Amino acid sequence: MKRHTIAILGGSGFVGHHLASRLARDEHTVRILTRRAEPHRDFLVLPTAELVECNVHDQLALNAAVVGCDVVVNLVGILNERGHRGKGFERAHVDLPRTVIEACRANAITRLLHMSALGADAAHGASHYQRSKGRGEQLVLAADDLRVTAFRPSVIFGPEDSFLNRFAGLLRRVPLMFPLACPSVRFATVYVGDVIEAFTRAIDNPHTYGRSYDLCGPRSYTLLELVRYVAKLGGHPQMIVPLPDWASRLQAEVFEWVPGKPFSRDNYLSTKHDNVCCGPFPEIFGITPTPLETVAPYYLGDAGERKRYATFRSHQ
Ligand SMILES: NC(=O)c1ccc[n+]([C@@H]2O[C@H](COP(=O)([O-])OP(=O)(O)OC[C@H]3O[C@@H](n4cnc5c(N)ncnc54)[C@H](OP(=O)(O)O)[C@@H]3O)[C@@H](O)[C@H]2O)c1
Repeated sequence: MKRHTIAILGGSGFVGHHLASRLARDEHTVRILTRRAEPHRDFLVLPTAELVECNVHDQLALNAAVVGCDVVVNLVGILNERGHRGKGFERAHVDLPRTVIEACRANAITRLLHMSALGADAAHGASHYQRSKGRGEQLVLAADDLRVTAFRPSVIFGPEDSFLNRFAGLLRRVPLMFPLACPSVRFATVYVGDVIEAFTRAIDNPHTYGRSYDLCGPRSYTLLELVRYVAKLGGHPQMIVPLPDWASRLQAEVFEWVPGKPFSRDNYLSTKHDNVCCGPFPEIFGITPTPLETVAPYYLGDAGERKRYATFRSHQ
């Protein structure tokens, strides 16, 4: 197996942590680019990891940060922006991929793996998130002097995920009744271990060049089913109250102005359509997708189950 030097933008996040550990296990040198290095010093326990503080939006800074790499992975993505008009999404999902392409060219790096999202659609996406993700994906795939592979996962689950853990946290705090917006939207939740395995296997596979892959788990769930499942695993007795569409929209209008935007108008629009794949997990990766029920109890359930998750991972 070839050993690469791989720069990961957005490598300090949920997917990035899992991917960096996986790549380090194959003895690739992993350079994690972050806007603030201090909180992420835990990466330095990985023997082949480098942590580089860098303003990835600055072309010259990014050019310098990827010197000596032969693969770049862009995982940067946001679910909410500071403002309300889409500029933040444009910067993170469109302007940044453009800067990444130029940084690859400036350093004669030809391999680029790009994280998009299921539902990303430049023309028909309902939200700023989906349209900007779609434009970013189009942009990188159009760079035909590079070998680009794009990935479009549904919601990703696994330890430290931001989706199921977020509902677990909310359920801990909200007593008695839990009002749930957009309860009937479907997600084909996909395990982070399968997503990062697809990235890892794509690196040296020329059949993946110029391609984009939808990544889903083995089955889909409504949001209501998922939240009920999280509540069951955490032992939360609240009644979960599915909100009708008008009330979901109203909740988004209100939470749009709450600090931290726990739910925004853009999030609401992103849930207008189901987030599910048309076919099975792409055969090219040779991965059988992991069911939610095999993993979630280990990190959302009690401490004993969490311990057993460590054993589960050590056998992977
Ligand atoms: N998690 C999911 O369910 C899911 C589903 C579909 C697609 N995706 C996509 O997968 C990617 C990774 O997701 P994740 O859950 O790992 O995200 P995450 O935990 O939020 O991590 C994203 C990382 O991107 C960096 N970042 C955030 N905003 C940025 C900005 N404005 N400019 C530059 N860097 C910024 C941050 O790194 P620093 O702060 O260290 O710079 C952060 O650690 C994203 O592109 C996301 O859209 C995720």
